[in-house]
Amino acid sequence: MVGVCGASGTPYAASVIRALLAAGEAVDLVVSRAARLTILDETGISFRDAHWQADLAAWIGDDPDLAGVRYWAAGDFAAGPSSGSYPAKGMLVVPATTGAVAGIALGLSKDLVQRAAAVTLKERRPLVVCVRETPLDGVTLRHLVELDAAGAVVLPASPGFYAGGSTARELVDFVAGRVLDAVGVGHGLYRRWSGELGGARSASADAASTAKPTGTDGPRGA
Ligand SMILES: Cc1cc2nc3c(=O)[nH]c(=O)nc-3n(C[C@H](O)[C@H](O)[C@H](O)COP(=O)(O)O)c2cc1C
Repeated sequence: MVGVCGASGTPYAASVIRALLAAGEAVDLVVSRAARLTILDETGISFRDAHWQADLAAWIGDDPDLAGVRYWAAGDFAAGPSSGSYPAKGMLVVPATTGAVAGIALGLSKDLVQRAAAVTLKERRPLVVCVRETPLDGVTLRHLVELDAAGAVVLPASPGFYAGGSTARELVDFVAGRVLDAVGVGHGLYRRWSGELGGARSASADAASTAKPTGTDGPRGA
């Protein structure tokens, strides 16, 4: 189950969904009302319940096979994921707003994202909360501690640079990869720490030198 909230960082959600589908995982998807604003703001796509397949394909790109996706409207409390008896392995809330963090920590269940997260916790299934906000105030920090105590993995959308990523896509994929690591889904989204300082940099340099024929693409002149 993937819940997308209205925090900046919709590329994190797109990367997670792409990777889950690539791994052959079934995806139950819910997009909060506020997330429509962030998707619109960050991609220009108006995400519509009635046209979710076309809008999702345009959003996540890479010509995805959406056969494994089941979409649920955020206001649909009769949806499958509203119940613990609906088969689900766990839930990834990515990106998570401070509002969703509060709602999940306090058990508000104000929409299907929050209800499905509450169900995930009560059923003792894995819940990953990829929070995106900065700076964080004491209220949110306390809610995050409560989520941790309840068994959730609190995973800030905070890319690491040790994996050698430098493009926005690589840094986004790093966070998405860590989200998938938290639930044991295989992926190749980032280069793992090799136990060697500078390992990622030298691997990138090796890849670059084998990719470019000598003398055709280097700097010219003095
Ligand atoms: C363009 C835009 C960016 C936003 N970015 C964030 C953010 O990074 N983190 C956050 O907690 N809220 C952010 N918000 C505010 C949330 O969308 C708002 O609190 C909303 O009520 C969250 O609802 P949801 O948790 O149901 O998605 C943003 C809002 C907009 C319009």
